[in-house]
Amino acid sequence: MYESYWKLKEKPFKNTPDPKFLCPFTQYSDALMKLTYAVRENMGAAMLTGVYGCGKTFIARALLDSLSRGRYSFAYLTSPPASGAEFFRAIVRTLKYSELPTRKTELLEDALLESLQMLLIENNREGKDTVVIVDEAHAITDERIFEKMRLLLNFQTKEKFLLTLIMVGQPELAGKVKNLRQLEQRIAVKCHLEALKEKETREYITHRLKIAGREEPLFQDNVFKLIHSASGGIPRRVNHICDACLMTGFARKKDIIDKEIFRESGKIFGETIFTGEKL
Ligand SMILES: Nc1ncnc2c1ncn2[C@@H]1O[C@H](COP(=O)(O)OP(=O)(O)O)[C@@H](O)[C@H]1O
Ligand SMILES: [Mg+2]
Repeated sequence: MYESYWKLKEKPFKNTPDPKFLCPFTQYSDALMKLTYAVRENMGAAMLTGVYGCGKTFIARALLDSLSRGRYSFAYLTSPPASGAEFFRAIVRTLKYSELPTRKTELLEDALLESLQMLLIENNREGKDTVVIVDEAHAITDERIFEKMRLLLNFQTKEKFLLTLIMVGQPELAGKVKNLRQLEQRIAVKCHLEALKEKETREYITHRLKIAGREEPLFQDNVFKLIHSASGGIPRRVNHICDACLMTGFARKKDIIDKEIFRESGKIFGETIFTGEKL
């Protein structure tokens, strides 16, 4: 709506994992490097944690985008499974739809696990490695599902694991896994994303604007600090706030986002966007 008004080629602050907007701060490139290492070296399991909105899904998607489709077969579970059978079914279905058993008895957990094992062996024979990502894994409430994850890590040849499992979730995931020692011991790589520092929040905003086609300043210098404290340096919230500011500035026909527009955006779009209470 406001793109041409602000001389932008596209919206700069969409909450979608579009890899071209990736900010190459050290914590993101390190996380990507460590996860890539875990996958390429067949290290078994990895874990990526961080608070809501800090960029976990973005990094997990960037990892998948970087893996060649000819060399890797992967399943991305966007929400946590409710049971062991659902977990195996989701993986089998994503890896190879046609392999999904159809008879009722075969939909049982054991049969699904067997299908999955066969798939992994077949992938391995074809020279493909398998990657399974479970996003929002902190929301798994049934410990038995973590136990199923551990079972998957038992699928190995003499030289390597037949799949890499990557668990992604909010910080409480680390606590849950810590209580499951056998699983915890198999996690070869752990990454944790922090909120952005004030200087990074500013760079983040400038970077996204630049990718969207705007190099000239759009926010007044003193507004970055306000955005940082209102967002806590969480990229998802920074996006919400900046988008609201651009919309308000456009409606008020301003040529730069100043403190006044920042405050007005808070009133128009709801203080919750600015304090993050509901986010
Ligand atoms: N490193 C980054 N570079 C650019 N944008 C990012 C980055 N990390 C997060 N974002 C933005 O924040 C949004 C929310 O991040 P997301 O990965 O969904 O958070 P989480 O999965 O941790 O809740 C993303 O859709 C993206 O627009
Ligand atoms: Mg996410």
